[in-house]
Amino acid sequence: MKRISMLGAGFIGRFYAMSLLGQRSQDKIVSVYSRREETAKRFSEDYACPHFTTEMEEAINRPEVDIVCIALPNNLHEAAVLLCCKHKKAVMTTKPLGRNAEEAKRMLLAVEEAGIFNGYLEDLVYTPKFLKSMETVKAGALGRILWAKSRETHPGPHSDWFWDKEQSGGGCILDLGCHCVEISRSFIGKDVRPIEVMCWADTQVKPIDAEDHAIALVKYASGAIGQFEVSWTFRGGLDLRDEVMGTEGTIWINNFLRTGLEMFTSGKSTDYVAEKSESNSGWLFPMGDEVNDLGYNHMFTDMLNSLDKGVAPKETFYDGYVVNAVLDAAYLSAKTKLWEPVNLDIWRGQEPGEQVKHLAEYDADHYLIKEELTHYGAKKLILKNKHTGKLIEREIE
Ligand SMILES: NC(=O)c1ccc[n+]([C@@H]2O[C@H](COP(=O)([O-])OP(=O)(O)OC[C@H]3O[C@@H](n4cnc5c(N)ncnc54)[C@H](O)[C@@H]3O)[C@@H](O)[C@H]2O)c1
Repeated sequence: MKRISMLGAGFIGRFYAMSLLGQRSQDKIVSVYSRREETAKRFSEDYACPHFTTEMEEAINRPEVDIVCIALPNNLHEAAVLLCCKHKKAVMTTKPLGRNAEEAKRMLLAVEEAGIFNGYLEDLVYTPKFLKSMETVKAGALGRILWAKSRETHPGPHSDWFWDKEQSGGGCILDLGCHCVEISRSFIGKDVRPIEVMCWADTQVKPIDAEDHAIALVKYASGAIGQFEVSWTFRGGLDLRDEVMGTEGTIWINNFLRTGLEMFTSGKSTDYVAEKSESNSGWLFPMGDEVNDLGYNHMFTDMLNSLDKGVAPKETFYDGYVVNAVLDAAYLSAKTKLWEPVNLDIWRGQEPGEQVKHLAEYDADHYLIKEELTHYGAKKLILKNKHTGKLIEREIE
């Protein structure tokens, strides 16, 4: 059993509470901090939490607290983390870790210096579909990973502070791209160094200083390419899709819309359908179990089991820092319109070596380019002569 102090009683704080206290969980939220007393009080009543406060430090520095869960606006993550370091409390922080890599690096160094448990709450690498896909990729079913694309688009976030660049640190690149980068990075290999980024971003619809729409390519040392597509201007709900392509196979994941549960209603009910759903009539795509399907359950299981065992969870502040560094490069590239390097002062994966060429052998003199069975019954081979470089075609009846 773990006793959790929740900082933030808003949108994600409540999703986290539903997951932490869901099913037959033994874990408890023992303290909650929110800016406004009525919000903190309502949260404490809803989740049987014995203590609420509008003083952040008071919620952290309580003897019964085993771990602090940070669910605050982005500009408050660092201050909250530093207070956890001061009081030597284990901490887990929602995404993005920082508003930029500099902030994230300070947080990473602070928790490591304090010697406290640190977890990065990136739920989308804990969804059941992601976990199954990752297991398949690790088993080699897709061969060598060449391309991992992740898309998160919706009609825009639910609180004012997201739209203020100073508080949020950026627009949809930071808010949604952080999920996408960690998804692609996981499929490509977290020990493979992200090298450089090319990004297009624009503010096409919303009257804000930050971007509301962006696309980027992230080049990795293995030669693999990560791709993210993000938008705060997409209409039609929350579109969460990933595609992974390898030399031996492909995975397509649809996490949210059209997941197999589709229903039609003329609109007699005004019930909640799913996160960011724009309608509650017509054809609808509800989630079977939103909290589980979005990864929160598997994420907290990993976090709290790791805390019990005294080991690092799958996602730590280091991962949050790498993600911030990739996104910093994306922001710079969107300005310069050039490929920009990912600056990682702290890198704990493989050092980039020579990119290995992967050529399929056919026989002593040829590489195999393509083999295909045609509709007229012939088997065609396209080969390349190893010595002359000449391409030839052979047909086998
Ligand atoms: N899937 C995910 O992992 C996911 C989804 C949504 C949000 N988030 C992250 O969670 C964090 C909080 O987002 P949210 O959607 O819960 O926001 P929210 O606005 O719904 O809630 C913010 C909470 O912080 C408190 N707060 C304290 N000081 C504040 C201040 N100065 N300004 C505004 N609020 C203040 C509010 O009282 C509220 O309880 C952000 O870092 C966001 O990126 C993660």
